[in-house]
Amino acid sequence: MRIVLLGAPGAGKGTQCKRIVSKYGLLHLSSGDILRQERSAGTELGKKAQGYMDSGALVPDEIIVEMMAGAIIKASESGFVLDGFPRTVDQAAQLDKSLKSSGKKIDAVLSLQIDDKVVAQRMTGRRSCPKCGAVYHIENLKPKVNGICDGCGSKLIQRPDDTPEVVANRLRTYHQQTKPVVDYYKKNGTFYDIDANSDASDVTALVIGHLDKMAPVGSRCRIL
Ligand code: AP5
Repeated sequence: MRIVLLGAPGAGKGTQCKRIVSKYGLLHLSSGDILRQERSAGTELGKKAQGYMDSGALVPDEIIVEMMAGAIIKASESGFVLDGFPRTVDQAAQLDKSLKSSGKKIDAVLSLQIDDKVVAQRMTGRRSCPKCGAVYHIENLKPKVNGICDGCGSKLIQRPDDTPEVVANRLRTYHQQTKPVVDYYKKNGTFYDIDANSDASDVTALVIGHLDKMAPVGSRCRIL
């Protein structure tokens, strides 16, 4: 399966992607995680992206498309779920073109719908693992030991772009530049709207309800 997960900042894309990859054995390609890795490694790409990310703006399309293209083509045999990419209509069109050149396409697009007022609460309470990328919340999805990652034992951090001012900018950017991607996919292929305002496991059940219809039979029975 080649899947795109769309949604506003804090809609739960990362949270749901981790569950999807664990159930269906797909690769999780998150443009935000790749950019943060580039930044921590101090690469040229990371330095170029820094200012955009810290202000809540999008990194320019040409940088992102080049960064994602190789990884997507490599993962397109085993299947993938894209998180945070594409985020503009131009990125979506370039993704389609690149997959088409190798005889492939996106099989389904899931769009997580969330109210803006829920986003603020989720973002300010988010804690992330800088090592393995696991995502927690101080109230909704607590780690077993406060401040420590269940998976790898690293100290959890708060993302620098999760301040109220930057979150407000990221939401504005989403409505102006990423919402049109929803309309693009509604016209081009299999598209599902998912209510993402409820509890994470309720959202997972909705996601799986759609993906199970497409998944090979053997992959449907794994328990999350
Ligand atoms: P990116 O890292 O992609 O950030 P984002 O899209 O703003 O999404 P988030 O990671 O903040 O949220 P999420 O939807 O994954 O939610 P999560 O599961 O963590 O991008 C960062 C920046 O990089 C961008 O601003 C941009 O500058 C740049 N960038 C990236 N891709 C780009 C591209 N393609 N083009 C240009 N620029 C790009 O959940 C949030 C919190 O809520 C967590 O604490 C979680 O535990 C909790 N939670 C999740 N689900 C639920 C639930 N159902 N109920 C209660 N709590 C929940």
